[in-house]
Amino acid sequence: MSERLLVTGGCGFIGSNFVRLVLQERPDWEVVNLDKLTYAGRLENLQDVADHPKYRFIRGDICDPEAVALAMRGCTLGVNFAAETHVDRSLLGASHFIDTDVKGVMVLLEEARRVGLRRFVQISTDEVYGSIEQGSFTEESVLNPRNPYAASKAGGDRMAYAYWATYGVPVIITRASNNYGPYQYPEKLIPLFITNALRDEPLPLYGDGRNVRDWLYVEDHCRALLFLLEQGQPGEVYNIAGGNERENLEVTRAVLALLGKPDSLIRFVADRPGHDRRYSLDTSKLQRLGWRPQVSFEEGLRRTVRWYVENSWWWQPIKDHDGEFRQYYQLQYGERLA
Ligand code: NAD
Ligand code: DAU
Repeated sequence: MSERLLVTGGCGFIGSNFVRLVLQERPDWEVVNLDKLTYAGRLENLQDVADHPKYRFIRGDICDPEAVALAMRGCTLGVNFAAETHVDRSLLGASHFIDTDVKGVMVLLEEARRVGLRRFVQISTDEVYGSIEQGSFTEESVLNPRNPYAASKAGGDRMAYAYWATYGVPVIITRASNNYGPYQYPEKLIPLFITNALRDEPLPLYGDGRNVRDWLYVEDHCRALLFLLEQGQPGEVYNIAGGNERENLEVTRAVLALLGKPDSLIRFVADRPGHDRRYSLDTSKLQRLGWRPQVSFEEGLRRTVRWYVENSWWWQPIKDHDGEFRQYYQLQYGERLA
Protein backbone atom coordinates (compact mmCIF):
# COMPACT_ATOMS: atom_id res chain seq x y z
CA MET A 1 0.00 0.00 0.00
CA SER A 2 1.34 3.42 -0.93
CA GLU A 3 1.75 5.77 2.03
CA ARG A 4 2.89 9.28 2.71
CA LEU A 5 5.03 9.30 5.83
CA LEU A 6 5.86 12.37 7.87
CA VAL A 7 9.20 12.04 9.64
CA THR A 8 9.96 14.83 12.11
CA GLY A 9 13.58 15.32 13.17
CA GLY A 10 14.75 13.40 10.10
CA CYS A 11 18.01 15.38 9.84
CA GLY A 12 19.30 14.04 13.15
CA PHE A 13 21.15 10.81 13.86
CA ILE A 14 18.41 8.17 14.09
CA GLY A 15 15.93 10.07 11.91
CA SER A 16 18.34 10.28 8.96
CA ASN A 17 19.15 6.57 9.19
CA PHE A 18 15.41 5.88 9.28
CA VAL A 19 14.59 8.06 6.24
CA ARG A 20 17.29 6.29 4.22
CA LEU A 21 15.99 2.86 5.29
CA VAL A 22 12.37 3.70 4.39
CA LEU A 23 13.32 5.05 0.94
CA GLN A 24 15.21 1.79 0.31
CA GLU A 25 12.72 -0.67 1.77
CA ARG A 26 9.40 0.96 0.84
CA PRO A 27 10.01 2.36 -2.67
CA ASP A 28 6.30 3.25 -3.12
CA TRP A 29 6.17 5.48 -0.06
CA GLU A 30 6.65 9.22 -0.06
CA VAL A 31 8.66 10.65 2.83
CA VAL A 32 8.25 14.21 4.09
CA ASN A 33 10.91 15.33 6.57
CA LEU A 34 10.13 18.28 8.86
CA ASP A 35 13.19 19.44 10.77
CA LYS A 36 14.14 22.69 12.48
CA LEU A 37 17.86 22.13 11.84
CA THR A 38 19.06 22.76 15.37
CA TYR A 39 22.75 22.24 16.10
CA ALA A 40 22.08 18.47 15.90
CA GLY A 41 20.16 18.50 12.62
CA ARG A 42 22.31 18.48 9.52
CA LEU A 43 21.34 18.46 5.85
CA GLU A 44 24.58 16.55 5.13
CA ASN A 45 23.06 13.56 6.95
CA LEU A 46 20.70 13.06 4.02
CA GLN A 47 22.63 14.64 1.16
CA ASP A 48 22.70 11.32 -0.71
CA VAL A 49 18.87 11.24 -0.93
CA ALA A 50 18.19 15.00 -1.15
CA ASP A 51 17.08 14.69 -4.80
CA HIS A 52 15.25 11.39 -4.40
CA PRO A 53 11.86 11.72 -6.18
CA LYS A 54 9.98 10.32 -3.15
CA TYR A 55 11.66 12.60 -0.59
CA ARG A 56 10.80 16.15 0.45
CA PHE A 57 12.45 18.29 3.11
CA ILE A 58 10.68 21.11 4.94
CA ARG A 59 12.52 23.28 7.42
CA GLY A 60 10.29 24.01 10.39
CA ASP A 61 9.62 23.64 14.09
CA ILE A 62 7.29 20.99 15.52
CA CYS A 63 6.12 23.61 18.05
CA ASP A 64 4.74 25.69 15.16
CA PRO A 65 1.18 24.52 14.29
CA GLU A 66 1.31 26.07 10.80
CA ALA A 67 4.56 24.34 9.87
CA VAL A 68 3.19 21.06 11.21
CA ALA A 69 -0.09 21.44 9.29
CA LEU A 70 1.81 22.12 6.07
CA ALA A 71 4.09 19.13 6.55
CA MET A 72 1.32 16.72 7.58
CA ARG A 73 -0.98 17.58 4.68
CA GLY A 74 -1.84 14.38 2.79
CA CYS A 75 0.15 12.18 5.17
CA THR A 76 -1.13 8.79 6.33
CA LEU A 77 1.65 7.93 8.82
CA GLY A 78 3.96 9.82 11.18
CA VAL A 79 7.09 9.13 13.20
CA ASN A 80 8.41 11.75 15.59
CA PHE A 81 12.19 11.78 16.15
CA ALA A 82 12.38 15.55 16.72
CA ALA A 83 13.72 16.29 20.19
CA GLU A 84 16.41 17.89 22.22
CA THR A 85 18.33 14.74 23.05
CA HIS A 86 21.49 15.34 25.06
CA VAL A 87 21.31 14.77 28.83
CA ASP A 88 24.36 16.94 29.56
CA ARG A 89 22.82 19.88 27.69
CA SER A 90 19.58 19.46 29.64
CA LEU A 91 21.63 19.91 32.82
CA LEU A 92 22.86 23.25 31.48
CA GLY A 93 19.32 24.47 30.71
CA ALA A 94 16.03 22.64 30.22
CA SER A 95 13.67 25.08 28.56
CA HIS A 96 14.26 23.97 24.93
CA PHE A 97 13.67 20.43 26.15
CA ILE A 98 10.25 21.31 27.52
CA ASP A 99 9.39 23.19 24.30
CA THR A 100 10.27 20.47 21.82
CA ASP A 101 9.99 17.26 23.82
CA VAL A 102 6.63 18.09 25.44
CA LYS A 103 4.87 20.97 23.70
CA GLY A 104 6.08 20.01 20.20
CA VAL A 105 4.71 16.49 20.72
CA MET A 106 1.33 17.96 21.66
CA VAL A 107 1.28 20.10 18.50
CA LEU A 108 2.02 17.02 16.37
CA LEU A 109 -0.66 14.97 18.12
CA GLU A 110 -3.24 17.70 17.69
CA GLU A 111 -2.61 17.80 13.94
CA ALA A 112 -2.50 13.98 13.72
CA ARG A 113 -5.93 13.97 15.31
CA ARG A 114 -7.23 16.63 12.90
CA VAL A 115 -6.03 14.92 9.72
CA GLY A 116 -6.73 11.38 10.96
CA LEU A 117 -3.26 9.81 10.63
CA ARG A 118 -3.49 6.00 10.51
CA ARG A 119 -0.43 5.58 12.78
CA PHE A 120 1.76 7.94 14.76
CA VAL A 121 4.93 6.63 16.38
CA GLN A 122 6.31 8.68 19.26
CA ILE A 123 9.97 7.87 19.86
CA SER A 124 10.44 7.86 23.61
CA THR A 125 13.45 6.49 25.50
CA ASP A 126 14.46 3.96 28.15
CA GLU A 127 15.52 6.96 30.28
CA VAL A 128 11.88 7.53 31.26
CA TYR A 129 12.14 4.52 33.61
CA GLY A 130 15.17 5.90 35.45
CA SER A 131 18.01 3.76 36.75
CA ILE A 132 17.84 0.07 37.74
CA GLU A 133 20.51 -1.80 39.74
CA GLN A 134 19.28 -5.32 38.97
CA GLY A 135 16.77 -6.86 36.59
CA SER A 136 15.14 -5.08 33.64
CA PHE A 137 12.26 -2.69 33.05
CA THR A 138 9.15 -3.95 31.26
CA GLU A 139 6.63 -1.68 29.54
CA GLU A 140 4.54 -1.89 32.75
CA SER A 141 7.30 -0.53 35.01
CA VAL A 142 6.73 2.74 36.83
CA LEU A 143 8.24 5.80 35.14
CA ASN A 144 10.87 7.54 37.24
CA PRO A 145 12.83 9.97 35.00
CA ARG A 146 15.80 11.47 36.86
CA ASN A 147 17.18 14.23 34.63
CA PRO A 148 15.50 17.11 32.77
CA TYR A 149 15.88 15.42 29.37
CA ALA A 150 14.31 12.21 30.65
CA ALA A 151 11.52 14.11 32.42
CA SER A 152 10.68 16.03 29.22
CA LYS A 153 10.64 12.80 27.21
CA ALA A 154 8.34 11.24 29.79
CA GLY A 155 6.02 14.23 29.27
CA GLY A 156 5.93 13.62 25.50
CA ASP A 157 5.53 9.88 26.02
CA ARG A 158 2.50 10.31 28.29
CA MET A 159 1.06 13.10 26.12
CA ALA A 160 1.02 10.64 23.22
CA TYR A 161 -0.72 8.06 25.38
CA ALA A 162 -3.24 10.69 26.51
CA TYR A 163 -4.19 11.41 22.88
CA TRP A 164 -4.84 7.71 22.36
CA ALA A 165 -6.83 7.32 25.58
CA THR A 166 -8.81 10.53 25.09
CA TYR A 167 -9.28 10.91 21.34
CA GLY A 168 -8.29 7.53 19.92
CA VAL A 169 -5.31 8.94 17.98
CA PRO A 170 -3.54 5.70 16.96
CA VAL A 171 -0.20 6.26 18.68
CA ILE A 172 2.55 3.71 19.22
CA ILE A 173 5.18 4.61 21.82
CA THR A 174 8.68 3.17 21.63
CA ARG A 175 11.31 3.27 24.37
CA ALA A 176 14.75 2.45 23.02
CA SER A 177 18.12 2.03 24.66
CA ASN A 178 21.36 3.83 23.67
CA ASN A 179 21.88 3.96 19.92
CA TYR A 180 25.20 4.12 18.10
CA GLY A 181 26.25 4.12 14.44
CA PRO A 182 26.90 6.50 11.51
CA TYR A 183 25.88 10.18 11.65
CA GLN A 184 25.68 10.45 15.46
CA TYR A 185 26.59 13.96 16.57
CA PRO A 186 29.99 13.92 18.29
CA GLU A 187 28.68 15.02 21.68
CA LYS A 188 27.50 11.50 22.62
CA LEU A 189 29.82 8.94 24.22
CA ILE A 190 30.80 6.74 21.28
CA PRO A 191 31.27 9.35 18.51
CA LEU A 192 32.91 11.79 20.93
CA PHE A 193 35.41 9.18 22.05
CA ILE A 194 36.14 7.89 18.54
CA THR A 195 36.78 11.40 17.19
CA ASN A 196 38.83 12.50 20.22
CA ALA A 197 40.93 9.33 20.06
CA LEU A 198 41.59 9.83 16.35
CA ARG A 199 43.21 13.14 17.34
CA ASP A 200 44.99 11.77 20.40
CA GLU A 201 42.85 13.99 22.63
CA PRO A 202 41.68 12.83 26.09
CA LEU A 203 38.50 10.77 26.51
CA PRO A 204 36.59 12.27 29.48
CA LEU A 205 34.95 9.35 31.28
CA TYR A 206 32.47 10.41 33.96
CA GLY A 207 32.79 9.13 37.53
CA ASP A 208 34.23 5.62 37.88
CA GLY A 209 33.31 4.69 34.28
CA ARG A 210 31.20 1.79 35.51
CA ASN A 211 27.76 3.05 34.50
CA VAL A 212 25.99 0.57 32.25
CA ARG A 213 24.16 1.25 29.00
CA ASP A 214 22.57 -1.26 26.61
CA TRP A 215 23.84 -0.51 23.08
CA LEU A 216 21.56 -0.77 20.05
CA TYR A 217 22.94 -0.44 16.53
CA VAL A 218 20.99 2.32 14.79
CA GLU A 219 20.01 0.17 11.80
CA ASP A 220 18.49 -2.44 14.13
CA HIS A 221 16.53 0.33 15.85
CA CYS A 222 15.27 1.70 12.52
CA ARG A 223 14.15 -1.75 11.37
CA ALA A 224 12.25 -2.19 14.64
CA LEU A 225 10.54 1.17 14.11
CA LEU A 226 9.47 0.33 10.56
CA PHE A 227 8.18 -3.02 11.83
CA LEU A 228 6.16 -1.34 14.60
CA LEU A 229 4.85 1.38 12.30
CA GLU A 230 3.25 -1.39 10.24
CA GLN A 231 2.54 -4.05 12.85
CA GLY A 232 2.44 -2.42 16.29
CA GLN A 233 -0.81 -2.08 18.21
CA PRO A 234 -2.13 1.48 18.69
CA GLY A 235 -2.08 2.57 22.33
CA GLU A 236 0.81 0.21 23.15
CA VAL A 237 4.33 0.86 24.39
CA TYR A 238 7.30 -1.19 23.10
CA ASN A 239 10.79 -1.45 24.58
CA ILE A 240 13.61 -1.76 22.01
CA ALA A 241 17.19 -2.71 22.96
CA GLY A 242 20.20 -4.46 21.54
CA GLY A 243 20.83 -6.77 24.50
CA ASN A 244 24.39 -5.42 24.76
CA GLU A 245 24.85 -4.15 28.31
CA ARG A 246 28.35 -2.78 28.77
CA GLU A 247 30.12 -0.60 31.31
CA ASN A 248 31.30 2.70 29.79
CA LEU A 249 34.91 1.79 30.57
CA GLU A 250 34.60 -1.42 28.56
CA VAL A 251 33.11 0.48 25.60
CA THR A 252 35.90 3.05 25.82
CA ARG A 253 38.61 0.38 25.83
CA ALA A 254 36.96 -1.33 22.85
CA VAL A 255 36.98 1.94 20.88
CA LEU A 256 40.67 2.50 21.70
CA ALA A 257 41.57 -1.06 20.76
CA LEU A 258 39.84 -0.78 17.37
CA LEU A 259 41.76 2.43 16.66
CA GLY A 260 45.08 1.07 17.96
CA LYS A 261 45.26 3.89 20.53
CA PRO A 262 46.53 3.59 24.15
CA ASP A 263 44.31 3.41 27.27
CA SER A 264 46.35 6.33 28.61
CA LEU A 265 44.01 8.63 26.63
CA ILE A 266 41.29 7.84 29.21
CA ARG A 267 40.71 10.62 31.73
CA PHE A 268 38.39 10.01 34.67
CA VAL A 269 36.58 13.32 35.23
CA ALA A 270 33.90 14.78 37.52
CA ASP A 271 30.69 12.80 37.23
CA ARG A 272 27.45 13.88 35.51
CA PRO A 273 25.10 15.06 38.30
CA GLY A 274 22.32 12.53 38.91
CA HIS A 275 24.09 10.08 36.56
CA ASP A 276 21.83 7.05 36.08
CA ARG A 277 23.83 3.96 37.01
CA ARG A 278 22.31 1.36 34.75
CA TYR A 279 19.63 1.08 32.07
CA SER A 280 18.19 -2.31 31.23
CA LEU A 281 15.13 -3.23 29.18
CA ASP A 282 13.06 -6.37 28.90
CA THR A 283 12.26 -6.58 25.16
CA SER A 284 10.22 -9.79 25.21
CA LYS A 285 7.04 -7.97 24.09
CA LEU A 286 8.67 -6.90 20.82
CA GLN A 287 10.51 -10.20 20.40
CA ARG A 288 7.20 -12.08 20.64
CA LEU A 289 6.08 -10.15 17.55
CA GLY A 290 9.14 -11.47 15.72
CA TRP A 291 11.72 -8.66 15.89
CA ARG A 292 15.35 -9.44 16.81
CA PRO A 293 18.45 -7.23 16.64
CA GLN A 294 20.76 -8.44 13.86
CA VAL A 295 24.03 -6.64 14.58
CA SER A 296 26.26 -7.74 17.48
CA PHE A 297 27.93 -5.03 19.54
CA GLU A 298 31.38 -6.05 18.31
CA GLU A 299 30.30 -5.85 14.65
CA GLY A 300 28.32 -2.62 15.16
CA LEU A 301 31.24 -0.94 16.89
CA ARG A 302 33.63 -2.03 14.11
CA ARG A 303 31.28 -0.57 11.50
CA THR A 304 30.84 2.64 13.49
CA VAL A 305 34.55 3.20 14.04
CA ARG A 306 35.21 2.54 10.35
CA TRP A 307 32.51 5.07 9.38
CA TYR A 308 34.08 7.85 11.49
CA VAL A 309 37.56 7.00 10.21
CA GLU A 310 36.34 7.20 6.60
CA ASN A 311 34.06 10.22 7.02
CA SER A 312 36.11 12.91 8.69
CA TRP A 313 34.50 15.32 6.13
CA TRP A 314 31.35 14.94 8.25
CA TRP A 315 32.66 15.42 11.79
CA GLN A 316 35.80 17.56 11.44
CA PRO A 317 33.91 20.74 10.45
CA ILE A 318 31.63 20.29 13.49
CA LYS A 319 34.57 19.96 15.84
CA ASP A 320 36.81 22.60 14.24
CA HIS A 321 34.55 25.25 12.76
CA ASP A 322 31.19 25.03 14.51
CA GLY A 323 31.38 27.76 17.15
CA GLU A 324 28.38 26.34 18.96
CA PHE A 325 30.08 22.96 19.40
CA ARG A 326 33.34 24.50 20.59
CA GLN A 327 31.52 26.67 23.10
CA TYR A 328 29.55 23.68 24.38
CA TYR A 329 32.70 21.55 24.62
CA GLN A 330 34.49 24.20 26.64
CA LEU A 331 31.53 24.62 29.00
CA GLN A 332 31.05 20.88 29.48
CA TYR A 333 34.68 19.72 29.62
CA GLY A 334 36.89 22.79 30.13
CA GLU A 335 37.11 22.52 33.92
CA ARG A 336 36.76 18.77 33.96
CA LEU A 337 39.86 18.32 31.81
CA ALA A 338 41.87 21.24 33.21
P1 NAD B 1 19.51 14.06 17.39
O1 NAD B 1 19.81 15.02 18.49
O2 NAD B 1 20.63 13.49 16.60
O3 NAD B 1 18.52 14.76 16.34
C1 NAD B 1 17.37 15.46 16.73
C2 NAD B 1 16.75 16.06 15.46
O4 NAD B 1 15.55 16.76 15.84
C3 NAD B 1 17.66 17.08 14.77
O5 NAD B 1 17.63 16.88 13.38
C4 NAD B 1 17.04 18.42 15.14
O6 NAD B 1 17.28 19.45 14.20
C5 NAD B 1 15.57 18.04 15.22
N1 NAD B 1 14.79 18.96 16.06
C6 NAD B 1 15.07 19.35 17.33
N2 NAD B 1 14.13 20.20 17.78
C7 NAD B 1 13.22 20.33 16.77
C8 NAD B 1 12.01 21.04 16.63
N3 NAD B 1 11.54 21.82 17.62
N4 NAD B 1 11.32 20.95 15.47
C9 NAD B 1 11.79 20.17 14.46
N5 NAD B 1 12.93 19.49 14.53
C10 NAD B 1 13.65 19.55 15.68
O7 NAD B 1 18.62 12.93 18.03
P2 NAD B 1 18.69 11.33 17.91
O8 NAD B 1 19.78 10.83 18.78
O9 NAD B 1 18.61 10.95 16.49
O10 NAD B 1 17.30 10.95 18.64
C11 NAD B 1 16.09 10.90 17.90
C12 NAD B 1 14.95 10.53 18.83
O11 NAD B 1 15.21 9.28 19.46
C13 NAD B 1 14.76 11.52 19.98
O12 NAD B 1 13.39 11.65 20.22
C14 NAD B 1 15.44 10.86 21.17
O13 NAD B 1 14.87 11.28 22.38
C15 NAD B 1 15.15 9.40 20.87
N6 NAD B 1 16.11 8.42 21.40
C16 NAD B 1 17.44 8.55 21.13
C17 NAD B 1 18.33 7.56 21.56
C18 NAD B 1 19.81 7.66 21.29
O14 NAD B 1 20.57 6.87 21.85
N7 NAD B 1 20.27 8.57 20.45
C19 NAD B 1 17.83 6.45 22.29
C20 NAD B 1 16.47 6.37 22.55
C21 NAD B 1 15.61 7.35 22.09
O1 DAU C 1 19.29 5.56 26.84
C1 DAU C 1 18.78 6.27 25.75
C2 DAU C 1 19.41 7.64 25.74
O2 DAU C 1 20.77 7.44 25.37
C3 DAU C 1 18.74 8.60 24.75
O3 DAU C 1 17.42 8.81 25.16
C4 DAU C 1 19.51 9.92 24.69
O4 DAU C 1 18.96 10.77 23.72
C5 DAU C 1 20.96 9.62 24.34
O5 DAU C 1 21.70 10.82 24.38
C6 DAU C 1 21.54 8.60 25.30
O6 DAU C 1 21.68 9.17 26.63
P1 DAU C 1 22.97 8.88 27.54
O7 DAU C 1 23.10 9.95 28.52
O8 DAU C 1 22.97 7.46 28.01
O9 DAU C 1 24.10 8.99 26.37
P2 DAU C 1 25.56 9.65 26.38
O10 DAU C 1 26.21 9.24 25.10
O11 DAU C 1 25.51 11.09 26.71
O12 DAU C 1 26.28 8.90 27.58
C7 DAU C 1 26.42 7.50 27.59
C8 DAU C 1 27.16 7.13 28.87
O13 DAU C 1 28.50 7.63 28.79
C9 DAU C 1 26.56 7.75 30.12
O14 DAU C 1 26.71 6.83 31.20
C10 DAU C 1 27.42 8.99 30.37
C11 DAU C 1 28.78 8.55 29.84
N1 DAU C 1 29.62 9.64 29.28
C12 DAU C 1 29.09 10.41 28.28
C13 DAU C 1 29.81 11.45 27.75
C14 DAU C 1 29.22 12.31 26.65
C15 DAU C 1 30.90 9.86 29.74
O15 DAU C 1 31.40 9.13 30.62
N2 DAU C 1 31.63 10.88 29.20
C16 DAU C 1 31.13 11.70 28.23
O16 DAU C 1 31.85 12.63 27.80
